[in-house]
Amino acid sequence: MLVNKAIFPVAGLGTRFLPATKAQPKEMLPVVDKPLIQYAVEEAYAAGIRQMIFVNGRNKRAIPDHFDTAYELEAELEAANKHDLLKLVQSIKPDDMECIYIRQPKALGLGHAVLCAQSVVVNEPFAVLLADDLMVGEPPIMKQMVEQFEDWKASILAVQEVPAEHTRRYGIVAGAAVNDKLVDVTHMVEKPAPEEAPSRLGVAGRYILTHDVFDEIRRQPRGVGGEIQLTDGIAGLLRRQKVFAYRYEGKRYDCGSKEGFLQANVELALQHPQLGAGFREYLKSLEL
Ligand code: G1P
Repeated sequence: MLVNKAIFPVAGLGTRFLPATKAQPKEMLPVVDKPLIQYAVEEAYAAGIRQMIFVNGRNKRAIPDHFDTAYELEAELEAANKHDLLKLVQSIKPDDMECIYIRQPKALGLGHAVLCAQSVVVNEPFAVLLADDLMVGEPPIMKQMVEQFEDWKASILAVQEVPAEHTRRYGIVAGAAVNDKLVDVTHMVEKPAPEEAPSRLGVAGRYILTHDVFDEIRRQPRGVGGEIQLTDGIAGLLRRQKVFAYRYEGKRYDCGSKEGFLQANVELALQHPQLGAGFREYLKSLEL
């Protein structure tokens, strides 16, 4: 069983980033020099995934355009002998990568977005990547998860310890430790209050799920915020089959929040091969 498909739910309104997201999707916000969605797609590609399924909504044309051929731009770069830039633009969508676009007619929640992709995921496991969680790791986080999936042949959720006062921001899982990286999940609850949270293990926006989760999502009533929650579907799934939480090795930037987005920009700029050294000098000169 190979993980060859990834779902990218990109239909959110991005209200936390207004006014920047009034006319463009939040997934197109750049961190240093690349849009968030490109980081997530590259992470999936590095994990061996070749079919990228974008579940988008209105005002999201920039995403298909970003992964499409840009004839005019490419012709101009070619004519101007800007071969490095041409290669850069063409590498956004490697030839062996397929992009599929599905429209989510109403923003009914993350579980609903995933359900919209069911018709193209035929009886096979699949990944879900939330592009506003920018994940940095070596090997890339999704690759680490695919390796776990290959060992266990069961759903894998990326998790990290979160501060008690932040449990309301996450799906929280609890269960029995299998080893220092894996937890056999017995409970999962969406955005609990700290006093109700079964643990402090919060789910980051990376999942590998078995196909059975679709039926479970469909079976759930509306959850937190009146939305159809992916967390509730997974909570249903774990009553039928094993689900593991995986403590990934790496770092997550919550680019759905302005603070996380700024941190990602600063840290990735410092690591950038061309910009890093100069940017470090600049930050020092600020004498904060
Ligand atoms: C979603 C999920 C939540 C998960 C989080 C990770 O919430 O519903 O379970 O922990 O992503 O970023 P959102 O951030 O979309 O509100």
